[in-house]
Amino acid sequence: MRITQDSINQILQAADIVEVVGDFVSLKKRGANYAALSPFTNEKTPSFYVSPSKGIFKCFSTGKGGDALKFVMEVDKLTYVEALKYLAKKYAIEVQYDKTEFSDAEKEAQSEKDSLFIILEHTKNYYKNILLSHPDGMAIGKSYFIERGLNDKTIAEFELGFALDSWDGLLNEPITKQFNQDLLAKAGVIKISENGKKFDFFRNRVMFPIHNITGKTIALAGRILGSDKGTAKYINSPETELYVKNQVLYGLFQAKQSIRNQDNCLLVEGYMDVLSLYQAGITNAVASSGTSLTEGQIKLIARYTKNVIVLYDGDKAGIKAAIRGTDMLLDSGLNIKVLVFPDGDDPDSFVNKVGATAFIEYLTKNAKDFITFKTEVLLQDSANDPLKKGEVIHEIINSIAKIKDEIQRSLYFRKCSQLLEIDEQVIVSEYNKIKLGEAKKQQEKAQNLEETLHIDIENKIVTDVFARTDSNEIAEREIIRILLEYADVQIEEQTLIQIMFSYLQNITFEDPIYAKIIEIFKLELAQNQLPTLDYFMKYPDVTIEERLINILTSKHELSNLWYDKYQIYITPKDNDKMILMNKSLARLNFEKFKKRNRDNQLKLNKLSDAETEEINALLDENIELKKYLQIYAKELGIVISG
Ligand code: CTP
Ligand code: MN
Repeated sequence: MRITQDSINQILQAADIVEVVGDFVSLKKRGANYAALSPFTNEKTPSFYVSPSKGIFKCFSTGKGGDALKFVMEVDKLTYVEALKYLAKKYAIEVQYDKTEFSDAEKEAQSEKDSLFIILEHTKNYYKNILLSHPDGMAIGKSYFIERGLNDKTIAEFELGFALDSWDGLLNEPITKQFNQDLLAKAGVIKISENGKKFDFFRNRVMFPIHNITGKTIALAGRILGSDKGTAKYINSPETELYVKNQVLYGLFQAKQSIRNQDNCLLVEGYMDVLSLYQAGITNAVASSGTSLTEGQIKLIARYTKNVIVLYDGDKAGIKAAIRGTDMLLDSGLNIKVLVFPDGDDPDSFVNKVGATAFIEYLTKNAKDFITFKTEVLLQDSANDPLKKGEVIHEIINSIAKIKDEIQRSLYFRKCSQLLEIDEQVIVSEYNKIKLGEAKKQQEKAQNLEETLHIDIENKIVTDVFARTDSNEIAEREIIRILLEYADVQIEEQTLIQIMFSYLQNITFEDPIYAKIIEIFKLELAQNQLPTLDYFMKYPDVTIEERLINILTSKHELSNLWYDKYQIYITPKDNDKMILMNKSLARLNFEKFKKRNRDNQLKLNKLSDAETEEINALLDENIELKKYLQIYAKELGIVISG
């Protein structure tokens, strides 16, 4: 059956783009719009925008864009109908269906994806019912789970099941016979041998359905009952359109609300860990299912919280390998702690041994921040080996470099200088080297991006997505960037910086850090010296270094803002230094005059009609300001009204 057009309209009207997107990414207000890190890529500077007035999103990294419905389809890989249902649920709208059945054509057009969903739903229910009502299911399957400490409620909530010790239990089930047999094989629930013989894939195993975040079964895992070394302990149904392993976290459907509420996520390795913790009331755990963590999984977590505690099983060998994977978590801007269990224990065995209260106590007491943990582990086998220690230092600094928060980062510099027993200054300058290298790479990348963006920007629908109020900051930033890059460029008798400063004489930079950079330039210039980038990077005030890195990596954003506000697009050929300088000076002046004009307007609004003298003075000044504004606007090639 299909959803009625009225129903669709109702859903689309209710769906607020900011609310819908806000469930998946953390949006920051930028003027009339919102910006965020794109949920579709793994980026470090936001290129994802939401325009509430237009009701659209736009991702410049991937080119994806559209309304709230489109967003849900993209981000959750949902079909059109699934996305509509998702939104209907979110806004508590009752979905109305057409009473007419599918036409034959529609039936055929039903995607393979939908069929897979139906097959997996059926298979899950089949195994679930065996566990609950088949004599063998109860005697063997359910007993197994009970022996492992699970109760009826947990079994029901995670829809656990049992596959009988039979080659054709599922196969001979009446409903199974109605499905396309090739699709059953594709879903991985049956196997077809070379001579065409069919048989059940899961036999004599307890079953764990794997859900997507909307609670639908997308795959199944089965565990052997004992500890037979000859057979794989767990087998999984294969990857399909529905089940992309590295984008799935086991238990997330059941845990997501709790993760959001507690603003914390426990990351464990196994299915049983999730289940035992959940039953003990620790409901914010998800499992990476034995594989090392992927970017897709990290992004899933980041939708719900920024705080992650990684729980490692207590075997030494695994920990070292795991540490490397965890660096990725830092990259994503998450706050990561690490907890290791006593040798031989995993979260499942440990919580069963000590109970929830002691478990949480242990966690609170022993969870370490990731950097400290990593430093300690790596140092353990580099003691007395200076060469190895050098490597360790480098690796740790690389990890710290991934931390986005400046204050946090400087705390780690201090802490690690103590742990590693080296001077903090050495760490900081090593860090600067890394950052400078990154900044250069980013800059190259940005250059390529500019051309791509140009095409995108022509698509007018997104224009106002960029309307931002921080245009003065941008104008100031552009001047600094030009100074940093081209200060020593010779233009006739003078250097670019000399010309630039002659124009900057009467201009005050509002941003305190930019103002300071200008001041440093002035002081150095007075002594006939030109501060290099390196000089600034080593400057005692770290906020300067921070900002410089931002400037050097913000090139693409800039040019596209220019285009958007003033329809100026800096093509590579325009990149002539003199033009660039003139344009940015015009831009800066324009912003300054605009601000004075605005300030005057505010003053005017406050005056009473009687204060004619003041009013006239302000109006005169405004006329004067407008003249200048027109001049600079013309230079910038823009038209201003009034
Ligand atoms: N795993 C798997 N295939 C295997 C072994 C492990 O897919 N042959 C995955 C499963 O997701 C498992 C996780 O890796 O839950 C962790 O493996 P392990 O620690 O061996 O299992 P436990 O979760 O501890 O399972 P149990 O307690 O039931 O032995
Ligand atoms: Mn275990």
